[in-house]
Amino acid sequence: MMWLFPSVALVFCLGPGNTVSQTSSTPLMVAGVLGEAVTLPLQLSAGWETEYITWLHNGTSVIFIQLSELRRPQVIVMDPRRKDRLQVTQSYSLQLSNLMMADMGTYRVQMGTKTSILFSDYTLRIFSESRSGI
Ligand SMILES: *[C@@H]1O[C@H](CO)[C@@H](O)[C@H](O)[C@H]1NC(C)=O
Repeated sequence: MMWLFPSVALVFCLGPGNTVSQTSSTPLMVAGVLGEAVTLPLQLSAGWETEYITWLHNGTSVIFIQLSELRRPQVIVMDPRRKDRLQVTQSYSLQLSNLMMADMGTYRVQMGTKTSILFSDYTLRIFSESRSGI
């Protein structure tokens, strides 16, 4: 569909001063225990210029936080199946409770300002019982 190309090009045509950056090339490994809770720590520093923070799981947005100087942050859980198990902390870290095997996988937090996008990756592994010594 040819008509799609102009708008796609526009999205990637960031002007000078606009940046997309990754905080680390290796994902942070996080381990959780089935049925328990885990927190994926936000490794980016949100500042006054931050407009949104979104957490993605396996490439799909699960929670979206819109930040504004004028009002409290608006938190929208994008995944209806996990509405009761997903939360963000005051520092915008992602908390998952009552862990299920399907919660495993790759997570990404993406933070946007007017001129930049920052992201950071995580790998969540889940064990079926707590193991000592790790
Ligand atoms: C995410 O990906 C992992 C690894 O491939 C998989 O085990 C898990 O079930 C997936 N979960 C969802 C909700 O897509």
